[in-house]
Amino acid sequence: MSDTQRLFFALWPDAELREAFVPLSKLKHECGGRAHPPGNLHITLHFLGGVDAETRDCLEQAAGEVVVPPFELTLDRFGYWPRPRVVWLGSNETPEPLSELVSELSRVVEQCGLQPERRPYHPHLTLLRKAKQAPAERAPELQWQVNEFVLAESASTPGGVEYRVLRRWPLQEDDG
Ligand code: 2AM
Repeated sequence: MSDTQRLFFALWPDAELREAFVPLSKLKHECGGRAHPPGNLHITLHFLGGVDAETRDCLEQAAGEVVVPPFELTLDRFGYWPRPRVVWLGSNETPEPLSELVSELSRVVEQCGLQPERRPYHPHLTLLRKAKQAPAERAPELQWQVNEFVLAESASTPGGVEYRVLRRWPLQEDDG
């Protein structure tokens, strides 16, 4: 098989917002599992899997043509998925531009010959893996002003999985 990179489109918090997530790692005392290192925290928009260089070029070119306005995302609820045993932070309401962005990226993915995601989209920021239960407490309310989206790589390193931003695109108003 040719060389591939494990890629995904994501929302990437800036350093200040990332700081706000740090106290949430204490949930592991209550829920068990392993906390994501703060540098890895993100919201996946579209998981791509193993991608070759030619497909990556196509994805980057097509992603550059996406026009979706900046938006505010309120993170205000915890959730737990028992099968992957994941505790996550998410939103009670998905802003319209976020749904638009995800559907635009599905179009990009399909255009480049990959399978778009068929399952409904649930924005979530994974906090704990291999957790045994959901948090009992209410989530803090965190505001995220989303001004860009990124293409990121999931790389295996001797220290564990590391997520790296490869490229960023600003969100922008449609000038007509
Ligand atoms: P998760 O946080 O819910 O596990 C990089 O691996 C990112 O892609 C993670 O955010 C992960 O979501 C997501 N991801 C990994 N494998 C996936 C898959 N098969 N389908 C959808 N998303 C996946």
